Amino acid sequence: MFYLILTNIYNKPLDMESIYKSDVVVVGSGISGLMVAISLYPRKVTLVTKKKLGEMSSSSWAQGGIAAAVGKDDHPDIHYADTIKASSGLNNKDAVKMITSEALEIVSFLEKINIPFDKDKNNNFYLSIEAAHSRRRVLKINGDQSGKFIVQKLIEYAKSQDHITFVEDVSVDHIVQNEHACEGIVGHINKPGVVDNFIFLQAPNVVLATGGIGSIYAHTTNPRDIYGEGIAMAAKAGARLKDMEFVQFHPTALDIGLDPAPLLTEAIRGEGAFLVDEDQNRFMLGVHPDKELAPRDVVARTIFKEQERGRSTFLDCRHFSKGNFKIMFPTANEFLTKANIDPEKDLIPIIPAAHYHMGGIKVDLTGQSTMKGLWACGEASSTGAHGANRLASNSLLEAFVFARKIADTINSKTISSTKLQKINIENYFPKEKTLSKVRAKKYIWQLRSNMTRNVGLERSKQSLTQAFIEFDRIERESKHLSAKLKDMLLVSRLITYAALLRQESRGTHFRNDFLETVSHYNKSLDFDINDMTNFLNHNTNKTIIKSA
Ligand code: SIN
Repeated sequence: MFYLILTNIYNKPLDMESIYKSDVVVVGSGISGLMVAISLYPRKVTLVTKKKLGEMSSSSWAQGGIAAAVGKDDHPDIHYADTIKASSGLNNKDAVKMITSEALEIVSFLEKINIPFDKDKNNNFYLSIEAAHSRRRVLKINGDQSGKFIVQKLIEYAKSQDHITFVEDVSVDHIVQNEHACEGIVGHINKPGVVDNFIFLQAPNVVLATGGIGSIYAHTTNPRDIYGEGIAMAAKAGARLKDMEFVQFHPTALDIGLDPAPLLTEAIRGEGAFLVDEDQNRFMLGVHPDKELAPRDVVARTIFKEQERGRSTFLDCRHFSKGNFKIMFPTANEFLTKANIDPEKDLIPIIPAAHYHMGGIKVDLTGQSTMKGLWACGEASSTGAHGANRLASNSLLEAFVFARKIADTINSKTISSTKLQKINIENYFPKEKTLSKVRAKKYIWQLRSNMTRNVGLERSKQSLTQAFIEFDRIERESKHLSAKLKDMLLVSRLITYAALLRQESRGTHFRNDFLETVSHYNKSLDFDINDMTNFLNHNTNKTIIKSA
């Protein structure tokens, strides 16, 4: 194990960028990034993270767990069927087959590295149930702390490996390419007070494991810095994107004005919690036969509609056996305690929040994007395993399976040795004015509110057109966009563009003006940045409404 001491390169002038070379650069230190780096042994890997290892990754916040057909009444084929059913027909069936059939192997690997899965008194896995699973099949660790435990263990494991060099506190900004093949990445050191310190990491393979897009919405359960920068980078480099319109909103984020909004895991409803309105009516009863455990999009939209009508919505756990909530859901309990809410006595206020993005960088079954040498896994990618609506707790599973595939595929290739090269860093970071932090914050908030209002749980041609008008206004008024705001705008536009093209309702994509699911749209939309730019150039905001 080798740590790059970035303090050595602080305060170097702009033209003395640091250059490092490896076989593979992995960006992101959530589950997919760590797993791909570990599995790439003996390749020389540089793992880059924006903060410290594992910090700010959505994986460490994952409360659900890993779905795997380990129960006596279960089988990978049943898990496969549930996944397809939940996903509204847009899956890549081979990807679903792959994740559901390899789940047991992944669980064995995790047991080998001593992941302490929750067990019952007979030492069988304790399995919980979440929406749209026909069986109890979600493996958990210390109740709702699965992500935290897994990430910690993977970090320990990765640190014991000599083939990985860790580069912390670096934000990655661009993919370096030559004739549409990856040559590495450039980024900047991400520490308060450190400016204009750029770093070039050269490698013929780059794996983006940068997570989802939650923070482009006003309400999200994702860490604050998760805003789709991997997608933005891949898009700017010309890679194709897929299923961008499908954003999953979690029905039960804690509504106490915190940003991000703390997640109240679906497993709480799996254990029998009710959803009630301000008159304590269980409003899901008449909506879906599975009531509180109806598919996530159905529950989230029902809550949204209640709130649109000006009614408050709550999670009700007051009937749980005394002491149970605290033991089963320590993370949720901690949030509630801090907010002075006692789940045994009080109703818990909830709001739907952006939680998971099914879309992302288009990859094949080996995790390879449409650009040579560029790979993606985890939430940054779109493998087709989740279709239009992800089955709960399938994402950690998908992350593990695809991380291994990428590593196996790269390991099977010959990597020819190249010389360290220099690049002109100014091609990537032209000297230009950028917004002050305070002004950037204001526009970022406007952008996030716009996404929630116009590209959220319900969409229409009108709302999507309004979203484009707002993007243009923000761009015009803010004048000198910061890199973060630029990326957030790009990702927001890409999602809005895809949402406009899909003139139907399916899974998490609900159009007020096209309520039906239409067979004409029985396929994923994939496109690149030029497709969107051409569309926008030919459709001024006034004409989008007519042409879409
Ligand atoms: C949850 O715990 O409710 C989230 C699980 C998931 O999103 O997979």
